[in-house]
Amino acid sequence: MKKILAIALALAMVLSLGAIAFAAEEPIYVGFAQVGHESDWRTASTQSAQDVFSAENGYELSFVDADNDSAVQLDAIRNFIQQGMDYIIVDPIVETGWDAVLTECEDAGIPVIVIDRTITDSDKFDAWVGSDFMVEGLACGEWLKAYAEAKGIEEINALVIEGSTGAGATIGRTDGFKEIADREGWTILDSQCGDFTEAGGQEVMESYCQSYAGQFNVVICQNDNEAAGAMTAMDQAGITYGVGGDVILVSFDANRWALQNVLDGKWNADFECNPMAAPTVDEIIKAMEAGEDYEAEVYVPESWFVAEDDVTSIEVNGEEQEVVVLTQEIVDARPY
Ligand code: AHR
Repeated sequence: MKKILAIALALAMVLSLGAIAFAAEEPIYVGFAQVGHESDWRTASTQSAQDVFSAENGYELSFVDADNDSAVQLDAIRNFIQQGMDYIIVDPIVETGWDAVLTECEDAGIPVIVIDRTITDSDKFDAWVGSDFMVEGLACGEWLKAYAEAKGIEEINALVIEGSTGAGATIGRTDGFKEIADREGWTILDSQCGDFTEAGGQEVMESYCQSYAGQFNVVICQNDNEAAGAMTAMDQAGITYGVGGDVILVSFDANRWALQNVLDGKWNADFECNPMAAPTVDEIIKAMEAGEDYEAEVYVPESWFVAEDDVTSIEVNGEEQEVVVLTQEIVDARPY
């Protein structure tokens, strides 16, 4: 009997010690100030963060959708400081206006990891994981040059539907494409903000169809949702686009549904913007937790997708890059 009691006592002690150890295992508290929910790309980015920074992976995530409002995004970060988050992740709506709040994060000793878009007026963050938007714009221009040559198109009269004003993605894509347009002597008839939304893309394209009827042969949309809106506007105006159409239609992002449009010949090309930053951020946080070295600047891999096989590679910044001619298998394998 004494022996049984001793075993029971020992077992109880082991169990309660285990419970204490379990209770002591604190999650990593992460605050994420997301841009908003303006596009399907954004939905994929949010979903990826929620999957990665989950309780099963040892995190507790506080997520704020700033609805494309910089004041809301700054407030969210200040609340994260108040709440004593272990890490703050931010996808900056605009490139500037960051130094004060990032200084507050630094003073509070909270590491900040920036994803996707860029910050240009402060270096008070610990890591950045995202896209080279300038390269995306340059790739778009270089592909268009090669495609126009292959098709014997001598004049380019382009209309650009920009993303949100002040966003790194807008600035890089605009500057990159313009660099090639200026070099090649193309005309950019107009370049207006469509705010990365379908409604914005449609509204801008409707006004372009009225103002520039019969004058343009290229439409560059700075994301897939804008391109969907532009299609509606051109359909209404009786303008044909895509393979064999009057207008070359190009987009950025490469969502699965958008690549299906390219494969179906409705769009001519789509330049990828990769929304999957979260797994890399997870690696960075794990390295920080372990006191190990980590990459402070990580460019996510991106590809360029086209409908036809006239152009299968381009030179961007002196580097030869593949242009992927879409197949149904490639479209179906897209994760988002
Ligand atoms: O910052 C990335 C851009 O923002 C994506 O191209 C767009 O779809 C999103 O809204």
